[in-house]
Amino acid sequence: MKIARYNYPDQFGDQLDAVVDDVRQMLVAGRYILSAEVSDFEQAFAGYVGTRFAKGVNSGTDALVLALAALGIGPGDEVITAANTFNATVAAIRLAGATPVLVDADEQSFLLDVKQLPAAITQRTKALLPVHLYGKPCPMGEIMRIAQSASLLVVEDAAQAHGAKVDGKRVGSFGQAGCFSFHPSKNLAAAGDAGMLVTSDEAVDQFCQKARSLGQEGQNNHVILGGNTKLDAIQARVLSAKLPRLDAWNAQRRQVAAAYRERLADLPLGCQSTSPDEEHVYHLFQVRTPRRDELLTYLKERGVDAVTRYPQPIHLQEAFAGCWKPGQFPVAEALCNELLCLPIRPDMGEDEIDYVATTVRSFFEGTA
Ligand SMILES: Cc1ncc(COP(=O)(O)O)c(C=O)c1O
Repeated sequence: MKIARYNYPDQFGDQLDAVVDDVRQMLVAGRYILSAEVSDFEQAFAGYVGTRFAKGVNSGTDALVLALAALGIGPGDEVITAANTFNATVAAIRLAGATPVLVDADEQSFLLDVKQLPAAITQRTKALLPVHLYGKPCPMGEIMRIAQSASLLVVEDAAQAHGAKVDGKRVGSFGQAGCFSFHPSKNLAAAGDAGMLVTSDEAVDQFCQKARSLGQEGQNNHVILGGNTKLDAIQARVLSAKLPRLDAWNAQRRQVAAAYRERLADLPLGCQSTSPDEEHVYHLFQVRTPRRDELLTYLKERGVDAVTRYPQPIHLQEAFAGCWKPGQFPVAEALCNELLCLPIRPDMGEDEIDYVATTVRSFFEGTA
């Protein structure tokens, strides 16, 4: 049996023909750049997240860079984020000209350890950048309290957590800005690179509107320094077709995760802790074991498309050489060595879940 990580055709469902027909019309009519398809999707996505505004950009990375710039964060400013995240979070802070300050991960949640946040705050700290990693929302109540008491801004990296909630409120709507990626691997996926910055702050939205279009206000009136990072119209059309199904997909992901948790409960495996006030959207389903590399090989040999996310901690990446030292973030380092993602897709059948769980069991029980 082969258990795939992605099933792209399934994501279109019965919408495929309608999308292809519309894209054909867009191609013929020349509706390529910031057309109605883009503003329609921006409006729908802002409504979904619960913010006043949304601006589509080229990627989640650019959404983060623009969010920081819009909030006036740059050289000399420190931004605190998770030591265990994808490279883009920390790269974006550097690309905005600011200094990333890392906080180690929590052993239970595999998210930034909020208890360590206050000690990382200095005179130069301007913002907190929590990452809702693997689809699990950070404890935003606590994070917002810490931010308010230290007069800090909050930018949420929600690239992996479209639709996740804390206390009924969607991630991306807590801080001054929320940043999403629609990379094809994500819970809400474009057919290429795409991203979104959401905010309820009109000034942030207006900055992003200009900064994504070479700083233009109207045509040929370049009022600030900007890049060229607009959400592509065809991607916006694809995303509009999928957004109405996102909640159902996330619920299906939670069902797959619950089945994995139940069937693997007695094995020597760690999973992300859960909390009753949250709605996890399981972008990834991570299991933790010191025998990670052996288990990965075992699963791959048996057709299960398991993968490691992410095997190399930020503080040891060549791109950040000289910034941090080995051993500085021990939990993040351990997670990089011990986490493995089991395939999780909304359309996974019982037989597929069963095959993955049975194969993991047979690894630990030596029954293969
Ligand atoms: C946590 C996190 N932050 C930021 C990004 C950047 O998104 P993108 O790949 O769209 O630039 C990603 C995704 O790839 C991510 O997983």
